Amino acid sequence: MSTILVTGGAGYIGSHTVIELVKAGYDPIIFDNFCNSKPAVLARINKICGKNIPFVVGDIRIREQLEAVFNNFKIDGVIHFAGLKAVGESVQKPLEYYDNNVNGSRMLLSVMKQYNCKNFIFSSSATVYGEPDVVPITEQSPVKRANCPYGQTKVDVEYMGEELQKADPEFSIVLLRYFNPVGAHKSGLIGEDPKGIPNNLMPYLTQVAVGKLKELSIFGNDYPTKDGTCIRDYIHVVDLALGHVKALDHCLNKAGVHIYNLGTGVGYSVLDMVNAFSKAIGYELPHKFAARRPGDVVQCYADPKKAKEELGWEAKLNLDDMTADSYNWQKNNPNGYED
Ligand code: NAD
Ligand code: WQD
Repeated sequence: MSTILVTGGAGYIGSHTVIELVKAGYDPIIFDNFCNSKPAVLARINKICGKNIPFVVGDIRIREQLEAVFNNFKIDGVIHFAGLKAVGESVQKPLEYYDNNVNGSRMLLSVMKQYNCKNFIFSSSATVYGEPDVVPITEQSPVKRANCPYGQTKVDVEYMGEELQKADPEFSIVLLRYFNPVGAHKSGLIGEDPKGIPNNLMPYLTQVAVGKLKELSIFGNDYPTKDGTCIRDYIHVVDLALGHVKALDHCLNKAGVHIYNLGTGVGYSVLDMVNAFSKAIGYELPHKFAARRPGDVVQCYADPKKAKEELGWEAKLNLDDMTADSYNWQKNNPNGYED
């Protein structure tokens, strides 16, 4: 039984991953400063798991708070979700993003090394590929300089992990490049709870569906795609969570740098998403076309073969599951996690 520290474990992807870790027989410990989540999620996680999961309120940038966890628990590995993730905000507040995401990761790796804990799984992103030259995107595709501070922090932490592994070859560094996580746990107890008006497509769709927002603006319908709207690889958050379990099963104590795309391999356009959502709710979701959003890539979807061959993982849930589960979460929790 391995004990896994889950930084950012109270967040959207972290909370779903904690549940799958427990189901797979791992012992997770949640570490979070609640800067983008609410303590109310903890009781929901415990309810789904049928037991209390240890949690620590702390900030990854504060050495003493991390050391306290490593002193109290014998930690075998770390899954590192903690970070800030809003692209637009990162342009406004680049220093906060570098501090939280890059300095925070550096502090975490430094404390891990100090305690001889050398298994690190990092939440990276397809954003490291920038505008891809070829789709579907394999792990061999070049990592590019990002077009926003958020994306660049992902590139920087990937490099930091790789350099550390060169210097200390006992490290197992796993870089998981997520495509577009959506959906929620089937129970409707946990899901994505963005602050304010959502930036991302799926939470925007769900908030229109429950009447919190009037209509979706589709950013651009003149892209060189089948219907003029951008294409993404949407992946159900529970599939993504299971990808972390498989990555742990495979990479724990396996020294090296291991890089995997976590996506479905299928690209859907924004209009495909609107249509799927309309089907789920039984009427046409209000939407209009608007100007392109600066910085959007035209199409981005994964070649997920490597994860299938090496980890034995592939996404199982389809677009209907994604829309139904997102909607179910939003309907049951119109205001997200209320304290
Ligand atoms: P989230 O904001 O829901 O979860 C992140 C959690 O980390 C939050 O609970 C937050 O309170 C916590 N946190 C942030 N800074 C912290 C700090 N300094 N110390 C302790 N805790 C801190 O985000 P998410 O969607 O679950 O994303 C998790 C990770 O996956 C992030 O690193 C994100 O960049 C990455 N990622 C997300 C997506 C996506 O679309 N959701 C895509 C690719 C990669
Ligand atoms: C998807 C599509 C929009 C909202 C972002 C980050 C990326 C990753 C995931 C962390 C795009 C369109 C959206 C709306 C719209 N995060 N859209 N109207 O941009 O692929 O990725 O989140 O790593 O780094 O950049 O996801 O959900 O914002 O957009 O038309 O109100 O939906 O233009 O084509 P994106 P998204």
